[in-house]
Order: sequence, then structure tokens, then C-alpha cells
Amino acid sequence: MARQASIQPESPQKQPQPQHDIEALRPAQWSLLRELRLHALGQDGTVFDASPETEAALPASYWQEVLATSTIWVATAGDAPAGMVRYTPHDGYGHGGSLWIDPHGRTRGLARRLMLTAVDHARRRGDSELRGSVLPDNRPAVRLFRSLGAVPTGWLKPRNHPPHALRIEMSIPLSQCPRT
Ligand SMILES: CC(C)(COP(=O)(O)OP(=O)(O)OC[C@H]1O[C@@H](n2cnc3c(N)ncnc32)[C@H](O)[C@@H]1OP(=O)(O)O)[C@@H](O)C(=O)NCCC(=O)NCCS
Repeated sequence: MARQASIQPESPQKQPQPQHDIEALRPAQWSLLRELRLHALGQDGTVFDASPETEAALPASYWQEVLATSTIWVATAGDAPAGMVRYTPHDGYGHGGSLWIDPHGRTRGLARRLMLTAVDHARRRGDSELRGSVLPDNRPAVRLFRSLGAVPTGWLKPRNHPPHALRIEMSIPLSQCPRT
């Protein structure tokens, strides 16, 4: 694919960092995953390739399968979930997705912490890269991926929801990515 997005996101002012715990969800916590994901889609549906209506209709077995095949880390402050990221293994690489931070917790470095958690996990598994896809005009996400060393793979991923927009796939070479 020849097309490549040219993006120069500006950096927002960093806010003080509150204490968040980051933990991987256990299989029994599928309903928390469902709740968080539907909340994220309700808040920021336009950046994800999914709709809250479609995912709300999925059965429990779908969410159980996600936790059986992927690792989901959730950041919490006290008991309140503040963000999440998903890692899915593929042949030779890992895929990072479903990255979402509650609007009240943004610009404090939490997404970076979650991504670095996924990066460390991918390294331990022996992956050489972590891939993910992003809308080219999603400035915060593009800036985050770039700061972790991500480069576009050249693949443009068509979206199902809503149709017509393209996501760019980016790859973080794990040998060059910062460590936590
Ligand atoms: C994208 C998102 C996860 C970033 O979360 P965050 O916790 O605010 O990000 P961080 O504080 O860790 O900042 C990460 C980088 O993004 C930059 N950034 C954050 N918000 C930004 C904004 N509004 N504009 C430009 N850059 C921004 C930060 O400056 C930082 O860059 P640096 O590493 O070069 O300093 C969050 O905005 C979000 O959940 N958005 C909606 C869902 C989404 O877009 N998910 C990603 C789908 S691919």
C-alpha cells in the first residue's frame, strides 16, 4: 500500500499523575470487560471499528473467548476502572488494541503505561513487534504510538463501522521501544 498519513500531533500539557493499579483481567471477569468496553464504545465510538449496539448484543461466550485468547489489562484508581488495553498473540508478533482511557484520566501518561505493559508482555512472549491500527486523525493515539517508536507498516485497514474511513496499521519494533 503506497499511501501514508502525514501527522504532526501537538503535545498537550501533562497533568499530575494519580496512582493507578494495572492488572490483567481473569477469565471470571468477563462481565467487567464487557461493561468497560461498552462504556468505551459509548464514549469514543468513532475511533473504534465497532459500535456499542453491535457489541452489546454479543453473548457471554464472546467475552469469555476474548479473555481466553487475549490479555486485557485494566487500570484502576481505587475501585474505579480508568482504562484498558488488549494484547492478542499472532504468529511472530503481538497485536495491541481496545486502548481506552477514561476522559477524566487522560494526558497523565496512563495510556503510555498500559501500552508499555503490553510491550513488556509481548517481549516476554518473544514477539519482535507489537502492531496496532489507528485512525490517522486520532492525534493522541498517533502521538503515543510514535513516542513508542511505532512506524506505519504501509497497510491501510478498511473500517466496518462506520464504513469508508481507513485505519493505518503501525508497528512498534520491540527492540527499539522504551522499557517500563
Ligand atoms: C488515545 C488515548 C488512549 C491517550 O490516552 P492518555 O492517557 O491521555 O495518553 P498519555 O497521557 O499516555 O499520552 C500519550 C501521548 O499522547 C499525547 N497526547 C495525549 N492526549 C493528546 C491530545 N489530546 N493531543 C495530542 N497529543 C496527546 C501525549 O502528549 C503523549 O505524548 P508523548 O508520549 O510524546 O508525551 C486517549 O485519548 C483515549 O482513550 N482516547 C479515546 C480512545 C482512543 O482513541 N483509543 C485509541 C484507539 S487506536
